[in-house]
Amino acid sequence: MSTQELPKHVGIIMDGNGRWAKKRGLPRSAGHAAGAAVFKNIVRYCSKIGIQHLTVYAFSTENWKRPQNEVLTLMKLFKQYLSDALTNFLDENIRVRFLGDETAFDPRLRELIDETVEVSKNRTGMVLNIALNYGGRSEILNAVRLLARDVQNGVLLPEQIGEEAFSQKLDTAGQPDPDLIIRPSGEKRTSNFLLWQSAYAEYVFMDILWPDFKPKDLDRALELYAARNRRFGGI
Ligand code: FPP
Repeated sequence: MSTQELPKHVGIIMDGNGRWAKKRGLPRSAGHAAGAAVFKNIVRYCSKIGIQHLTVYAFSTENWKRPQNEVLTLMKLFKQYLSDALTNFLDENIRVRFLGDETAFDPRLRELIDETVEVSKNRTGMVLNIALNYGGRSEILNAVRLLARDVQNGVLLPEQIGEEAFSQKLDTAGQPDPDLIIRPSGEKRTSNFLLWQSAYAEYVFMDILWPDFKPKDLDRALELYAARNRRFGGI
């Protein structure tokens, strides 16, 4: 695939961990653990093939509604991944950023989040955005609040609020919009993921559960993307 056909920014809704575990008679936590291993593999693969920005949906603002033990399992996996990434993958050229409100997390997870951002901030390779306690609507509301404050402080006129100024207040500020969003598991919803940024994204929905997702499935999604005719409202 030529670099021209390769999306600059790929988003992935990592879905289907629970169903994968259920099919095997395993607890949902086993599905999340398998999903975390796939996540690591796909991150490395995306970086290797030259994707410049990868955004993964790991925990939504709505996921707090899950049973407490499942939420705890996920928090533990996030901590494990980040402490692992800090000790073992320091040589990787991936810059890690987080989308969402980290203030809801416990102090240890927040510390790991901040440390990962700090340690990786000067890297020049792929930007990996991990969406944690993220919701598109809450991100948009936050941007509105920030802009309203600027207007209130007299540093911005309402007429100056354009798409660019708005984008700069989002958690993805400075990054291109996603070109391709992949959702495995058979569900065909956006589920509050990158609502503003996905205005012109191409969606690929796949009938495969996230823990079964392989680099060849990513290749397939990239092929489908390359065959699409993106017009951005033009002809
Ligand atoms: C959705 O599947 C998945 C999640 C809510 C969690 C995603 C987390 C991971 C892939 C693991 C770890 C990630 C990192 C960053 C280390 P689901 O549980 O909703 O599946 P179901 O719809 O089949 O129940």
